[in-house]
Amino acid sequence: MGSITISGIGAYVPEKKITNFDLEKTVDTSNEWILERTGIAERRQVADNESSSTMGAAAANEALISANLLAENIDLIITATCSPDGMFPSTANRIQSIIGAKKAVCFDVNSACNGFLTALAIANGLLDNKNYKKALIIGSETLTRLVDWQDRNTCILFGDGAGAVVIEHSDNKSDLLGVLFGSDGTQGDLLFATGPASIKNSLIEDAKIIMDGPNVFKNAVNFMTSIAKELLIKTGKSIDDISLCIPHQANERILNAVASNLSLDKNRVFNNIKNLGNTSAASIPIALHAAYYSNRLKKGDTLLFTAFGAGLNWGSALINWNEIKNPKE
Ligand code: UT7
Repeated sequence: MGSITISGIGAYVPEKKITNFDLEKTVDTSNEWILERTGIAERRQVADNESSSTMGAAAANEALISANLLAENIDLIITATCSPDGMFPSTANRIQSIIGAKKAVCFDVNSACNGFLTALAIANGLLDNKNYKKALIIGSETLTRLVDWQDRNTCILFGDGAGAVVIEHSDNKSDLLGVLFGSDGTQGDLLFATGPASIKNSLIEDAKIIMDGPNVFKNAVNFMTSIAKELLIKTGKSIDDISLCIPHQANERILNAVASNLSLDKNRVFNNIKNLGNTSAASIPIALHAAYYSNRLKKGDTLLFTAFGAGLNWGSALINWNEIKNPKE
């Protein structure tokens, strides 16, 4: 592995909440059903003047403050998103412009809900060659603009938000202990949204999310478990070494099943899905930020990330948590 350290974290979620009671008024569902089947009570929705780039920029600015860096110090911005502001330029470029990171090289990664881990791994490789020393890794999603609000399978799940970390090249030990990924394009139609450049006569004209919920559920449990187990073996760690698992916040029942498969009791699995829903590539950095500010992280902790999303794509990462500055103290 390369040598990186995580030096800053930030997050942003929009103010507007959509509660289960709001959804009861628009689709045939109930607060009880949603809570029981997903663990979600409410999710956030962007205002008209917000998007993945504005939320990503807000999260990035907070991460810069906690890393004690200026935007001009950043060499690289990678944004993980499957809900970009537009086809191009990239959301990372748009964030560069908003925050004024003049010298940064910018691009996006689309690995759906697995995107943040993918972006982290790519940045780790780029920082390893020492041409780039400081990077912003951002997960930012505006899924409420892709959701079909008439489809009760999907509109109950997804929400908006952004999370960011600053990583820096380090000559000492690396905070990233290992990463591992998998993909299966043959099952891409289990969860997809078309785009403006889709083949004509595709199933839907607009970019709306279509999902085979039960099959996505089974794959999520299987792959989030198996990739984490594989990574533990490859890095010579055991589940007892894990201080906290921060999984992609897909569905509380998925988190519980993964925890049980990994023999992790629930208090070692971070869960903040109740108030935010599934924010795709933003969910892990938002959860990391929430874990940090609820005093769940200590210097020297080993953190296990595991994620699964459309593609199909899945991945896992192991992190040694170092102390970072808390700008709120
Ligand atoms: O981030 C990675 C990508 N996404 C995910 O990981 C999501 C994975 N999937 C899921 O979270 C779940 O499959 C859902 C929450 C989408 C659905 O839950 P489920 O327990 O898998 O329900 P189901 O689709 O098997 O449906 C069970 C029943 C059906 O009724 P019948 O046929 O038994 O009469 C559905 O029509 O529940 C019904 N149903 C609902 N009822 C009330 C489905 N959605 C709803 C709803 N409200 N929103």
